[in-house]
Amino acid sequence: MVNKKKLDIIATEDAHGPHTYQKFPVAIVRGKGALVWDDKGREYVDCMGGYGVAIVGHSNDKVVAAIKRQAETLITCHGSLYNDARAEFLETLTSCSPKGLDAAFLSNSGAEAVEVAIKLGRKVTGKKGLIAMKGAYHGKTAGALSATWSKRYREAFEPLLQGVKHVENGDLGALEQAIDADIGAVIVEPIQGEGGIVLPPKDYLRGVREICDKKGLLLIADEIQTGLGRTGKLWAMENWGVVPDIMTVAKGLAGGVPIGATVTRAEILNSLKKGEATSTFGGNPLACAAGTATLRYILDNDLPSQAKKKGKLFLDKLKALGKEHQLTREARGLGLMLAFELRVDIQELLNEAMSAGAIFTYSGRTIVRMLPPLVITERQIDRSVRILGDAISAEEKRRASGGGAVG
Ligand SMILES: Cc1ncc(COP(=O)(O)O)c(C=O)c1O
Repeated sequence: MVNKKKLDIIATEDAHGPHTYQKFPVAIVRGKGALVWDDKGREYVDCMGGYGVAIVGHSNDKVVAAIKRQAETLITCHGSLYNDARAEFLETLTSCSPKGLDAAFLSNSGAEAVEVAIKLGRKVTGKKGLIAMKGAYHGKTAGALSATWSKRYREAFEPLLQGVKHVENGDLGALEQAIDADIGAVIVEPIQGEGGIVLPPKDYLRGVREICDKKGLLLIADEIQTGLGRTGKLWAMENWGVVPDIMTVAKGLAGGVPIGATVTRAEILNSLKKGEATSTFGGNPLACAAGTATLRYILDNDLPSQAKKKGKLFLDKLKALGKEHQLTREARGLGLMLAFELRVDIQELLNEAMSAGAIFTYSGRTIVRMLPPLVITERQIDRSVRILGDAISAEEKRRASGGGAVG
């Protein structure tokens, strides 16, 4: 048995875990709301939010209660049997999904939700071709990776899926030009997350919808990072009044418990015949109970409106901070999906902010990304921005004394 007290968390993970994550040297052991604590008892405002997972806050009381109840009742039930927690979750999810999306395939992660969306695109249209956007991120399993843009993630694993084309994000002409007889579907992130919090041009998504309708293509909206209220609407596509044919959701959908969902119209979902998409843990009762509690919490507390209001406050403060610091390029975002782009590499700055009690994440080398829980308080936003400002000041001092070039 491992003695928990003596466990050197960081050394043990480094010795026995993969080295595929860009890790911060901090071991988080507890969380509540938008706060987390490390193994030494130090408190942090979590603006990384588990890369957007902790949407209803860490260890949300309603989610914890639902998990406890379900854990004492039934933890596993394969999809070949019916289950009350699963039925309730499917009903809750589809009743708040965009109009007409009344069915969902349940899985365990974002990438898996995208895999099923890609399969549906092929199955329904009979065409293997898929158009994705430059800068896109859709996950790292083989199918999802085919739609992901970054060469750094893809190169070692090629050849991936055939028939995937990447076109300039935000350019309707480029999209139209890329459509040929083999294309069956188009996949978009309403706002690119990993790509650097890239908002679409005003009429772009509506234009994509029109092109898909005109050419008979399925429109897949990857709402894995943007969904569940983060951008000020329950689904980010609503910001532009667009309803997709297929929507992928994951991250915070079950309050932090692993889950993925591919939400679509029943007639589209039913193009998959028996055995063509299954997953041992898909629709797991524990995840489903957590999912129902999460969705209810989001809706009952109108978290989308909270994200809109707090997001504006956060962005205004970032913009003000930007004016004070020459190293800043731009503050941007929608709701609580925010970016603070600098002119320099941010690694040391993020470590500095971490030491001062705020956790941020990257979106590329120079972009500080914020995906905080939607329950973050105004004081916690203040504290985070102050810490970020101090970290930028420290970076400026380092540079003034000769360390690093401004790009
Ligand atoms: C838009 C988008 N799609 C897909 C994924 C992949 O999700 P997962 O890491 O759960 O496989 C992510 C993860 O960050 C994402 O942001």
